[in-house]
Amino acid sequence: MERVLVIGSSGQIGSELVLALRKKFGNVNVFATDIKNPPDEIRNGGPFQILDVLDYRNLLHFLVRHNITQVYNLAAVLSGNAEKIPLQAWDINMKALMNTLEAARQSDAKKLFWPSSIAVFGPTTPRHNTPQLTVMEPNTVYGISKLAGERWGEYYCHRYGIDFRSVRYPGLISYKTEPGGGTTDYAVEIYFEAIKKGSYECFVSADTALPMMFMDDAIENTLRLMDVGSDHLSLRSSYNMAGISFTAEELHQSIKKYLPNFSTTYKPDFRQAIADSWPASIDDSIAQKDWGMKTEYDLDKMTKVMLEKIGEQLNGPKN
Ligand code: SER
Repeated sequence: MERVLVIGSSGQIGSELVLALRKKFGNVNVFATDIKNPPDEIRNGGPFQILDVLDYRNLLHFLVRHNITQVYNLAAVLSGNAEKIPLQAWDINMKALMNTLEAARQSDAKKLFWPSSIAVFGPTTPRHNTPQLTVMEPNTVYGISKLAGERWGEYYCHRYGIDFRSVRYPGLISYKTEPGGGTTDYAVEIYFEAIKKGSYECFVSADTALPMMFMDDAIENTLRLMDVGSDHLSLRSSYNMAGISFTAEELHQSIKKYLPNFSTTYKPDFRQAIADSWPASIDDSIAQKDWGMKTEYDLDKMTKVMLEKIGEQLNGPKN
């Protein structure tokens, strides 16, 4: 019987992952925690508790008291926000991971999921079809912390037997909880603004291409990676995960197919430089081979669902 802890359950990934995990393991076996209040669906569907992952003693106590066997640690300061508070962001992102790794070592919570990101790559990395193993010189605080985290995860796996598993998420697109402070946030904001205002001012240029993934695909693949037997995993750092690559202009055009009057203007800010340092497309053949990574959504299919769901949230269900 698995007993699961999710750290960061009020965030963009956590608020959806908790629901999938509760379905899989049963509501009472999935403990949602965050330092922020969760959406109602999370609070009402099973145990929720305020828990600060930076408080090591409390975290360890929680794992032992609830007989936790696996942890999903999703707490992080994202790329855009991290550039505003570099030292603090480094401190938070690394301490959140190191506390979880150490607490795993000192308890029965031996299986750990921790998300990495396309941000581990940098301007010297090949930009197209970026391989799993390549030059990695990230130049953002967030990217540096993710790369360091991958190394620590692999180290704890080999040295202490922690079952560390990780993917390099592309930009994640979802309608339930918006992301906060990331560079790929434009690809979520654009859908909300399309429904609310019919126009969007985009903070990266029209030709900016980045890999993205619809949240349903991200959750499915996360569960897939966590389910597979250890002997399938040839990597214990973090797996490339490609998703779908498109430019901001292609995203705009996809929305226009459903909302012909939608308009976008482009006004790049400091996040343009971050986007330019990341890959435009990714090679995830090792993830496909090792644990069957696959996706269901292309750009237009995702756009259709995003617009429908956001429309329902803001205006009530269509009959
Ligand atoms: N989506 C994240 C960000 O933009 C990258 O992992 O910060």
